[in-house]
Amino acid sequence: MTDHAAYLDAKRALDDRSLDREVLDRFAAELPPEPTVLEVGAGTATMVERLVDWGVLDGGRWVAVDAHEAALAAGEARIGDACGDVTVEYRVADAFDFAAEAAAAGERFDAVVGCAFFDVVDAAPAVDALADVAPVAYAPITYDGETRFAPADPDDEAVLDRYHRHMREFRAGGPDGAAAVAREATVIAEGPSPWVIEPPYESGERTVLSHLLDTVADAVGETGLDASGWAERRREALGDGRLRYEAANRDLLVRLG
Ligand SMILES: C[S@@+](CC[C@H](N)C(=O)[O-])C[C@H]1O[C@@H](n2cnc3c(N)ncnc32)[C@H](O)[C@@H]1O
Repeated sequence: MTDHAAYLDAKRALDDRSLDREVLDRFAAELPPEPTVLEVGAGTATMVERLVDWGVLDGGRWVAVDAHEAALAAGEARIGDACGDVTVEYRVADAFDFAAEAAAAGERFDAVVGCAFFDVVDAAPAVDALADVAPVAYAPITYDGETRFAPADPDDEAVLDRYHRHMREFRAGGPDGAAAVAREATVIAEGPSPWVIEPPYESGERTVLSHLLDTVADAVGETGLDASGWAERRREALGDGRLRYEAANRDLLVRLG
């Protein structure tokens, strides 16, 4: 399994406890029996399993799209072509190309789902493109602009400032991912879904933290600041079981179009 796929699988329990259940209930209420759902940026397809496990879905068709072939392949190897009574299909593709082709072919879905996705894409064209294929989008775990690590490190401010600058200037989504989605579509329901990881770590949390430290250090490096000293001290704290991490996210349910 690739690092990306291992990280996505490891963060499943973190997402489970972070999701806002009221927004999820509101999303469930939007779905007809046996819905057809398009999941964009599906990763290893943990969302369809979660929704079946939690009784939100008990039939229908789920189309999982991701540009990352290995992540989707890991999901397919784990789930196969059905999850409970839900038929699951996997498509390695750019989500917006896929949506455009589906729209051109006259295909419609009952909903779009994008977990931890709308903060890595440009919200305005994303909402426009997806409005052509579905009436609503469920966008849980959308980054809401704040990351904190503890215990305090003298380089935290410089590193996290650069991290957010990287999101603004190098990534399409920007640090106000959730706010951008809310600006571009009509919000039906929203609620906070913060990620909090603190010692003692549960299974998979070291994998998640290690991946997040790499993500921050790589991003900051791309802005021209060497964050290797900061990352080394943070990895030591992780190794000693002292590192605490918190990120603000929001779950959104929006009407498209
Ligand atoms: C942070 S991961 C979240 C994955 C999954 N939704 C989850 O929460 O475990 C974001 C995913 O979006 C995918 N992605 C980003 N932009 C994409 C695009 N334009 N088309 C398809 N997939 C994309 C990435 O490959 C990655 O797997």
